[in-house]
Amino acid sequence: MTISFSIADKAPDLPRTPWRFALYFYRKIKFALIAIFAFEAGQASCTILLPYAVKDIIDAVNLAKDTGADVFESAYDAMVFFAILNLGIVLFSRASGAVLVAYAPGLRAKIRKDIFRYLQFHSHSYFVSHFSGSLANRISEVALSCMHALWTITFDFYPLVIQSVVALIILSNTTSELAMVLTIWLVIYTFVSIFLARRCQGYSMKFAAARSKVTGKIVDSVTNMMNTKMFARGDYEEDYLSNYLDEEVDHALKTYWFMEKMRWFQYLSAMILMVCMVGYALRIWAEGGLTVGEFSMVAGMCIMLIEAARGLSRSFLEYFEYIDNISDGVSIFIQPHGIVDTKGAKDLAINEGLIEFNNIDFSYSEGTKLFHQLNVTIKPCQKVGLVGYSGSGKSSFVSLILRLFEAESGKIEIDSQNILNVTQDSLRENISMIPQDPMLFHRTLMENIRYGKLNASDEEVMEAAQKANAHEFIQLTEKGYGSPVGERGVKLSGGQRQRIAIARAILKDSKILILDEATSSLDSVTEKKIQQGLNRLMTDKTVIVVAHRLSTIAHLDRILVFDEGAIIEDGSHEELLSIKNGHYAHLWNMQAGGFLPDTEVT
Ligand SMILES: Nc1ncnc2c1ncn2[C@@H]1O[C@H](COP(=O)(O)OP(=O)(O)OP(=O)(O)O)[C@@H](O)[C@H]1O
Ligand SMILES: [Mg+2]
Repeated sequence: MTISFSIADKAPDLPRTPWRFALYFYRKIKFALIAIFAFEAGQASCTILLPYAVKDIIDAVNLAKDTGADVFESAYDAMVFFAILNLGIVLFSRASGAVLVAYAPGLRAKIRKDIFRYLQFHSHSYFVSHFSGSLANRISEVALSCMHALWTITFDFYPLVIQSVVALIILSNTTSELAMVLTIWLVIYTFVSIFLARRCQGYSMKFAAARSKVTGKIVDSVTNMMNTKMFARGDYEEDYLSNYLDEEVDHALKTYWFMEKMRWFQYLSAMILMVCMVGYALRIWAEGGLTVGEFSMVAGMCIMLIEAARGLSRSFLEYFEYIDNISDGVSIFIQPHGIVDTKGAKDLAINEGLIEFNNIDFSYSEGTKLFHQLNVTIKPCQKVGLVGYSGSGKSSFVSLILRLFEAESGKIEIDSQNILNVTQDSLRENISMIPQDPMLFHRTLMENIRYGKLNASDEEVMEAAQKANAHEFIQLTEKGYGSPVGERGVKLSGGQRQRIAIARAILKDSKILILDEATSSLDSVTEKKIQQGLNRLMTDKTVIVVAHRLSTIAHLDRILVFDEGAIIEDGSHEELLSIKNGHYAHLWNMQAGGFLPDTEVT
């Protein structure tokens, strides 16, 4: 038993093995499945009984011929039976189809929804280390595979079992040797089919991997089309892709040839058995052991069964592929949630906005410690600027406040509440964060801004946009607030995206505000224009501003200078400037154009 498989309270408790995972969802429609199984049993039985009805008809006709009775009259009952079986096939199959149509789409949606919900609770680092495109694809694939695996069982394997059982019972009453031979053939054939499908799976998995590699390469190339154009590397990209396509073709050929071999086995063994069975039945008939009707029934049933079994290898192969897909997805999605709310976590109650770091140790990977025994207290409503070279730990510092990552030791408190003991939702609800490169949803501008406060009226949204100096450019777009912004917001300039993010934060209006290079893409004039809006936003709030442009933070109450994860200077602009040979003073003096140098100049 693993004890440390942490799952967020609100996440669905999804099983961690492919079989259990699939069963977990199948159970959701168990009554519908029972109905489908019953209808399929009905349909399979009716189908395999057709030769039996034909036997009755033939025997009745023969009897009528012998006795001179009316053919239709004597075959009447058998004809009715034949008609009923056909009607049964129609009704059972359509009833099963109706249940399928009624429940399948809902089940598929449920699977996607639950995986998505589970995924949502994964930590920030999970999403940093998994491609979002491939995660999204996999959700669909797992859902589809769960459905297909179920349909392979219900519509391929199960009817074959029912047909075999019914046919073998009837045949064993007529010719038990034949029934015996057919049973042995079916059993051996099934095992060989499974064996071959397993062998083929090795090839088809490599083929699938090659296919998805090609897809990955195409996605990467398309995403980087701008690079391709800028460097005029169209031909190079084609050649680059060709290598992977060749590999795919190679694996495709191996897989398809193996499948062809499989088909040779299937068709040959089916052919031999069919001819032998019919020949054998003919002999018994000739010896008087069977009536004409019985002969036709035996031949008919054998042909139907063998025909149905012929596709078994292919069905097994597909089935194993579905299970593999589910297994892959489960291993990727159903991992422990990295950061979960503690049991009984309360909502963060914030009224002042005091932030305290006590002896914080933190590292992204083992061995390389970023923060070591970091202690900082940010007073309520204090406006703090963070400066330091790229990579010095400023963004990491704010990530820790948001609990996107967890410290190894020490504690972070907000208004004297350890952030580990409050719910993550309430923590982030109370902090507005504007990142350097804000991502937007591919939704309208209105929806993107309203994300900060879902129940905001249109007027409130526009007011926030005005404060963020975004209203004007929004009105110039084709559909105004109704304009979609493109994937991740690509249809907007960097500065426009930042202003949308600022408007969003203005609407959210939380007690703690963090700006991580939030105005870095704005020109000085635009920055000045929104400064008023920002100043208003900052009143009565604890504010942390990360900026390379020192003029952005010079006027704040306090400045923390970061260097390799340590805070090396702490004070107001004037205090820091007065430190002789101080780091900040050096940076300030270096900033001819208002930006930090990339590396230290000595
Ligand atoms: N998700 C991550 N996984 C591993 N290491 C990371 C991760 N994020 C940041 N780092 C590393 O942590 C260090 C601090 O990074 P951080 O982003 O905090 O710097 P920063 O001061 O914000 O820099 P910049 O001014 O360039 O934004 C860097 O060495 C960086 O490579
Ligand atoms: Mg940063």
